[in-house]
Amino acid sequence: MDRRAFVKVCAGTAIAAAWWRGQPALAASIADHPPARLVNADGSPLKAADVPTTEALVFAYPYRGVPCFLINLGARAAHPATLASPEDGDYTSPAGVGPHANLVACVAICTHQLSYPTPDYSAIRYADSASPLAGAPGRIVCCTHGSVYDPAAGAARVSGPAPNALLPVQLAWDAESDGLAATGCVGDKFFARFFDAYKSDLIDRFGPGGYHQPVGETTVAIPLSRHSAAVSTC
Ligand code: FES
Repeated sequence: MDRRAFVKVCAGTAIAAAWWRGQPALAASIADHPPARLVNADGSPLKAADVPTTEALVFAYPYRGVPCFLINLGARAAHPATLASPEDGDYTSPAGVGPHANLVACVAICTHQLSYPTPDYSAIRYADSASPLAGAPGRIVCCTHGSVYDPAAGAARVSGPAPNALLPVQLAWDAESDGLAATGCVGDKFFARFFDAYKSDLIDRFGPGGYHQPVGETTVAIPLSRHSAAVSTC
């Protein structure tokens, strides 16, 4: 590639990579983190139109060891909710993004005893149809001890022993490309507790220190059924 062509490609990449800068300001109290574009397993940009309604996609953000859910609520739109984390304080969860305001993201770590999706197993999932535990469609259920969360209301706790909501991840959506990016979240103190609780498991997967490295400019989003070999169905 000659220099002129290289500069053109770089300029195009910079423009494509910067579209989230025109997005609305972060919801109140959500901490800014370096943005990460969501991509498919082959590295191609994930489009909002390709996010399934049947299950959550799993991606890491803002650190490599923090699993998050991307959820398409289908006919439901997500509304901001005023919530609180015992460790990270009060916050307002963001509204849904995308052409139908129905795409939301949250940290996929149960706030009860920190169950989270591993490559072997996940006790926590998004249930698009009514599950025995949730009793209503469109809930996040944690089968470890039976907590239920509503992703359309900031992943607020609905029932069960969880003390508070799953923590929110701010998304940005680009209408022109239909691309998605994660741009901020709540939970830095919560993440420290999670890292402490699962340190040896996380070191096995990511290497010493690898689990708290930022994800970088992109983060891969894959269906939970591909991320975890077994998913609980309570
Ligand atoms: S760890 Fe999720 S309900 Fe206990």
